[in-house]
Amino acid sequence: MPTPDANQSIRPRRNRKSRAIRNLCRETRLSVESLIYPVFIHDSSRDEDIESMPGCKRWSHAGLLRELTEAHSLGIGAVVLFPAIAEQLKSKTAAESYNDDGLIPKTIRAIKNEIPDLAVITDVALDPYNSDGHDGLVDSNGRILNDETVDILCKQAISHARSGADIVAPSDMMDGRVGAIREALDKEGRSETSILSYTAKYASSYYGPFRGALGSAPKSGDKKTYQMDPANAGEALREATLDIDEGADMIMVKPAGPYLDVLALVASHVDVPVAAYQVSGEYLMIESAAAAGWISREDVIRESLTGIHRAGANAILTYYAKEVAGWLYNNKE
Ligand code: PBG
Repeated sequence: MPTPDANQSIRPRRNRKSRAIRNLCRETRLSVESLIYPVFIHDSSRDEDIESMPGCKRWSHAGLLRELTEAHSLGIGAVVLFPAIAEQLKSKTAAESYNDDGLIPKTIRAIKNEIPDLAVITDVALDPYNSDGHDGLVDSNGRILNDETVDILCKQAISHARSGADIVAPSDMMDGRVGAIREALDKEGRSETSILSYTAKYASSYYGPFRGALGSAPKSGDKKTYQMDPANAGEALREATLDIDEGADMIMVKPAGPYLDVLALVASHVDVPVAAYQVSGEYLMIESAAAAGWISREDVIRESLTGIHRAGANAILTYYAKEVAGWLYNNKE
């Protein structure tokens, strides 16, 4: 038997020797209050399974309210809404995006009526409404028009704010949109509506399953002229500085898991809260590996979210929000 070195007085393992001691030494803790629940909705009376995201649904009006009531009773404090828009309502100008009687405004009003304490966050971008499937307007040469898009995003944000959204979240990555939206909201007397800016949103292949959920994939081209190059981290700081100067109350890094370095970098440089989005591809990779029996589902979900939290996220958007809230509620390790 090898004898331990008599001089080895420092033994980090002492801090891991039992569950109780590990709990005392834990540096970060996932909490239900920091989870944001992204949900998909459509204008239909049926809740529909989403093929590209097994376990997620496109909710009907009634189904959504039931789901959110349950989530809220488990401690979830915030939801973000994503609409699947009927093909016939999509257009080159994405005018449905600021229809005050559209799916999102109606849904916001219903949630605020039934569950007033639940913070409602809306996605501000044109892709669900745009027949071209891009976050911005597309000209005849296939170019994404920045400033023309920003005008529409302002109308969309105002329409969400008027309907009662607590936070609008521009996910489009156009230049100057945060400042323009802030000014437009203030002019409308909506100075209390917050802006959560998708600041470092990468041109990622991890969004594929989400686009399947909404039928919102670009009809041609990709999103690389507006979303960030996955190879860049320093550029995220540049985007963060701009968004904060323009009035963003919170900023976001997205995707989360493959970009933890960016998240940590941004979180250590800014003085606004930072959110991170565990996106559809991250979800699907966990789900498919677990379904194949290759990983332990619950453990990997917990570990993935703990990693995102540890890297510096104050808030985490995750499709697992409600399920994890249930685990935390029951205090299961
Ligand atoms: C649209 C938007 C996307 C996501 C959130 N808002 C897709 C995209 O930019 O193509 C992706 C979320 C996910 O993959 O879970 N502006």
